[in-house]
Formats: sequence, structure tokens, C-alpha cells
Amino acid sequence: MATETKKRKPQINKIDEIKIKVSTTTTMRGDTLLAFVRNNQDLELLMLDHYGRGLRDCLEQASRSGDFQGKKGQTLLFYPPVDQTYPQGQSPDLVRRSHSFLQRIILVGLGADDPDLEGWRWAGGTAAAKLLKTRASVVTLILPENSGKPAAEVAAALSEGLLLGTYSFNKYRANKTGEEDELKLSLRRIIINGPKGIGPAVSRAVALAAAVRVARDMANEPGNGWTPDDFADYGRQLARRHDLKVTVLSRENMSKLGMEGILAVSRGSIRPPRLLILEYYSVTSKTKTKASAMSRSLALGKVSQIPTLLLVGKGITFDSGGISLKPSNGMEKMKYDMCGGAAVLATMEIVGREQPQGINVVAMVPAAENLPGPAALKPGDIIRPYGGAKSVEVINTDAEGRLLLADALAYGIKKFRPTAVVDLATLTGAVTVALGHHYAGLLGNNDELCAKVLAAGERAGEPFWRLPLGPEYRKQLKSKVADLKNIDKRDAGAILGASFLQEFVGDTPWVHLDIAGTAWDFTEKPYVPKGPSGFGVRTLVELIRNFCSPEFR
Ligand code: BES
Ligand code: MN
Ligand code: ZN
Repeated sequence: MATETKKRKPQINKIDEIKIKVSTTTTMRGDTLLAFVRNNQDLELLMLDHYGRGLRDCLEQASRSGDFQGKKGQTLLFYPPVDQTYPQGQSPDLVRRSHSFLQRIILVGLGADDPDLEGWRWAGGTAAAKLLKTRASVVTLILPENSGKPAAEVAAALSEGLLLGTYSFNKYRANKTGEEDELKLSLRRIIINGPKGIGPAVSRAVALAAAVRVARDMANEPGNGWTPDDFADYGRQLARRHDLKVTVLSRENMSKLGMEGILAVSRGSIRPPRLLILEYYSVTSKTKTKASAMSRSLALGKVSQIPTLLLVGKGITFDSGGISLKPSNGMEKMKYDMCGGAAVLATMEIVGREQPQGINVVAMVPAAENLPGPAALKPGDIIRPYGGAKSVEVINTDAEGRLLLADALAYGIKKFRPTAVVDLATLTGAVTVALGHHYAGLLGNNDELCAKVLAAGERAGEPFWRLPLGPEYRKQLKSKVADLKNIDKRDAGAILGASFLQEFVGDTPWVHLDIAGTAWDFTEKPYVPKGPSGFGVRTLVELIRNFCSPEFR
């Protein structure tokens, strides 16, 4: 532990590597022009004349050659002759002297139809991949007109795709100037040329993408680089930045409260567990001082029924399986077992930034390491998660997520009386057997809430598939010596995991998202590079942004 006692900076948030700006002009700035083309689209629509007097001819030639038709995912990179790239009415000399010297044009195909929002994210991701293969530094993006969607939404989806598609994690690599990385460093700024009024939507998208990148950073950190304490430190720092209430429960606090689930899971590790709690309260009057605003909104929450959403994310910073040790092949991937917690924390970045009105949000991350140390939880041990009403026989110490989530769910529901609860967890390998890497599992006890989350995921480009729950499954968790056991035979593993959690949520509307198949190795998309995907952040943000709007009630 010696090398780890030094204070690490939890601030891993390098959001602004690439800046996105908005401009209402049709001025070319930078070295690269980026435009989007539908399948066989008439090039007239591209408005290229604004950017260079000879560009249209170049393009027509590219199109006539058959090399580029504008199919979905297709790209064209070309280098127009200098005398064709200066804007009308300007001399080539003037252009060369200015810093805006158009060197390359990148076209991205959209396919035959107007893309939906997911299609625009794809287009942004496709553009990102192409940009990273060049020395492009400052890019002017021509926002397509008449695309069938509001310009603000298109610009936002493109920004999301661009920023998520350019993500990489190189913190631990000395050779940052290795060929690939050096090229990645050249992209600095993207200027979106579009109509008035797209600014706010773009900055919200930029912040959202930054939050997703933070979640990916947390997940990419190895087990010794992201510990329960790092969750706590990051949470404290986030709370300070956004004026949220933060609580970090220590092992002693949790003992007093009777949280035997998280305590049991963490017993094999020398690193103490942490339960991080962040509270955001919607404040109607911004003129109040912090303290009085807090108490006022607390009161409001009770009196005027502002709904409270409780988010719980599994924060196992490394899952070895414990005494029920996992096979060593691929075990390193279990550093990702905190992706639910990362998604919940990253979501709070947006909640803090946007301060949504009409909804309170409480986030909890129970964080621990699951290791086979001398004091570790053993198969056959019986524990009582928070509340004490139900005893649990631990058949397999590798089914640990449900034990610490049981504490967090039961405690969060008792303390905050939420209107709705959503938990995110890389809970079971079984959900991947069922759904692969294309859909995350969704299970819940309330059809309306399930529908809401399914819809939010759909809009966010994070698909969920609902799986059933019911007494026939619950029966499989009966123990001979305790009230419940933590696993049964392999069958229906994802459902059994959720059934176990259901025992600790009572009647509160609750949705469980099993993201074990999508938190990394998510469906290949241009805006989701290999590695952790940040899955769940965009769904939760979408859910919160719309929680109170009448269409989604
Ligand atoms: N963190 C794992 C689930 C997991 C497995 C996530 C593979 C991503 C990829 C969880 O704690 C676990 O170990 N679950 C066991 C449950 C089993 C012992 C009933 C599993 O899925 O194998
Ligand atoms: Mn496990
Ligand atoms: Zn686990």
C-alpha cells in the first residue's frame, strides 16, 4: 500500500481537450472543412460556394468518379488546390496570411434518408474517426440545412458523436507521442456554422459528452487507480463544484447502521468500503442563501410533492469473486465492475450543472473491493443487509453486487422516501448470455417507470430490453437456513439477480439496469470506441431532463 498512500488527484476530468464553438456565419476558419452528404445528394445543397469558389467542381469530380456517394458511414477526404479554396471576393494572398487556410475537406455520408438523432451521433463519430487520422486542428463544420430535424438537435447530436468518438485514455502510457497519440493531439477546435439559437443545445451536449468521458475515465482506471476512496473523493469534489450535499459513510458508520451486505463484501480487502451519497434538491427560489434554500427545498419536497429520484450505482472497484474466486483468464476486466457507480456519478455532474427544476435527485454509490483476504466473506456465511428484516445465506461470494446494492437500496428508500429508484449495475454475466452487447437488461416492479426508462434509453441511443420478474423466480432464492440465498442454479441468472434486489425495495417504484454486457464491449458504433462505453449516463440524464415534462409523466 505504500505507494498508494500519496494523495491522488481525483480530478480526472479533462473535458476540454477539444472545444466546440458555434458560429452563425458562413466563414471558413481553421484548416479543415467538415460537411455531411446524403446518398447521391445534389451537391447544390452543400452551400460550398461560401467556402471556396472552386470547391464545387472538385466535389463534382469526386462524385462523378463514383468514389463517394454519401452512403452511411462513407467518408471522403480530399485536398483542394489552394487557388480554389479562398472565399469569393478574397485574394489567395489574404487567405494565406490569415490563419484560416483551408487545407482539407472531409465529407461524411449520411445514407439515403434523413438521419434520426442516433444517425447524427453516428455521423459525428464517423467524422471523429476520420479527423483523428489527419492533422486537422481547427475544423469548420457546416451544419446541414433542411435535414428534417431542428438544427439545434442535429448540432447537439453531432457534437455528442464527435466528442464521444474522439475519446481515448492514455494516462498511463509514456509514449504519448507514439504515432497514433500524436495525431490525436492535433484536434483542438470545432466551429459549427449553423443558424442562430443552437448554442444552448450544443453546450448541453458538450457537457453531457464530457460527463460520459468522465465515466469512461473512471472505468479505464485500474483497480489500484480507482478505489472506493477515489469514488468518495471525486464525489466530495463534485459536490463542492455544484453545491450538492455530500455524505461519505465509513466502515464504522455502516457498522452502526447495520449494513452487513457492503461490510461483508469488503471484508477480504484492506481497502475500506465507502458509501457515497450526493443529494440535489430542486430549488424554486434562487435568491435564498445556500442553507436556507436547502431546508426550504427539503420542506418543498415534502409539501409540494417534488418527486425524488434515487439513483444507485454498483461501485465494486475490483471483483476477484472473493473466496469463490473467478478464473484468472480475463479477470483484469473486473476493474470495470464499478461502471454503474461511475454512470451515476457522471450523471450528477449534469444534475449539478443544469440544476433541473421540479425534481430532486439523490445518488448513492456503495463502493468496495471484492477480494479473498483472511477475513473474507465465506460461502455459507449468513448476513443481514440493512434493515435487518431478511437474512441472506451467501452461497457464492462472487454474487457480491446484490449484497451491497441491497444495503444501498434499503437504506436510500428508508432515508429519502424516493418517488422512483433506478439502480445500475454490472450485475451478472448472465445478462450477456441473454442479450449480448447490444441491449442492457431492464427489470422493475412498476410498468410506468419501466416504460419511462425504456423510452429515455431509446432516445439516448442506449437500448434496454425488459426481462420478467415474478414469484416463480423469487422462489428460486429460498434458502434452507436463511430467508434468502444469494444465488441458485445458473438458469435465469440476470432475473435472479434482480429478484434478489427486489426483496429490498418494497413497493417503491424501482428499475434495475443490468449493464454487464454494455458497460464495455458495447455494440460497435463510431461514437463508442473500444473499452468502457459510459453506458447509462445518457439514459439517466435524458430521464432526469424529461422526468417532469407532461409527455413523460
Ligand atoms: N461483476 C460480476 C458480473 C459480471 C460478469 C460483469 C462478467 C461483467 C462481466 C458479478 O459480480 C458476478 O460475478 N456475477 C456472477 C454471479 C454468479 C456467481 C451467480 C456471474 O455472473 O458469473
Ligand atoms: Mn462478482
Ligand atoms: Zn461483481
